[in-house]
Amino acid sequence: MDLTSKNIMIMDHPLIKHKISLLRDKNTGTGEFRSLVEEIAMLMAFESLRSLPLEEIEIETPIEKCISPVIEGKKLAVVPILRAGLGMVDGILKLVPTAKVGHIGLCRNEETHLPQEYYCKLPENIDQRDVIVLDPMLATGGSAAAAVDLIKAKGGRSIKFMCIIAAPEGLEVLRKAHPDIEIYVGNLDRCLNSDAYICPGLGDAGDRIFGTK
Ligand code: PRP
Ligand code: URA
Repeated sequence: MDLTSKNIMIMDHPLIKHKISLLRDKNTGTGEFRSLVEEIAMLMAFESLRSLPLEEIEIETPIEKCISPVIEGKKLAVVPILRAGLGMVDGILKLVPTAKVGHIGLCRNEETHLPQEYYCKLPENIDQRDVIVLDPMLATGGSAAAAVDLIKAKGGRSIKFMCIIAAPEGLEVLRKAHPDIEIYVGNLDRCLNSDAYICPGLGDAGDRIFGTK
């Protein structure tokens, strides 16, 4: 797999690595798991939002007036893939509270492993926004590629995908399907197993975030 692509960013920050290890532990309970997913998303946002557009505004400090840069927050849209992507949203919104939020509902068929769409609601003027698609898990890549397809079909052009754990198989599928998007990966794991789960991975992210199993 071509990891030299300039569109693939694999995180190397020790805090992210540490928190991903805690996330993997099968003894980590729902509350802690949820907090970790949110914290990792926030830390990854520092990397992925490096190129956020700024605008200059006038501010009065206790000393004098000055012109100072602020984020053009209205331009950003975050789009979690339901369900597990929801766990990452608040981490991003803590940094950019004015970002708009869309939702894409996709569920993997347990036998075919193919994504089935059940919901899609995106912020208006999606064609004029920087969009970050969120999902903790990039396994076969089917869900991520389908989500980006949906956003592009509605006019989205400037798209990033952020996941906490990726399998090489899924990263390759997404890169080939959408070579124009930036992909941010917390950790690149070894491979998929015969059930298309990531190894070593962290199990079923949605179930662990929402305590459904
Ligand atoms: C998980 C995960 C991704 C998808 C990844 O969701 O959150 O969306 O699987 O797998 P893929 O790369 O092979 O498509 P799932 O479909 O289990 O739904 P859930 O979040 O509602 O549990
Ligand atoms: N979805 C998950 O939640 N975990 C995996 O390992 C693969 C898909």
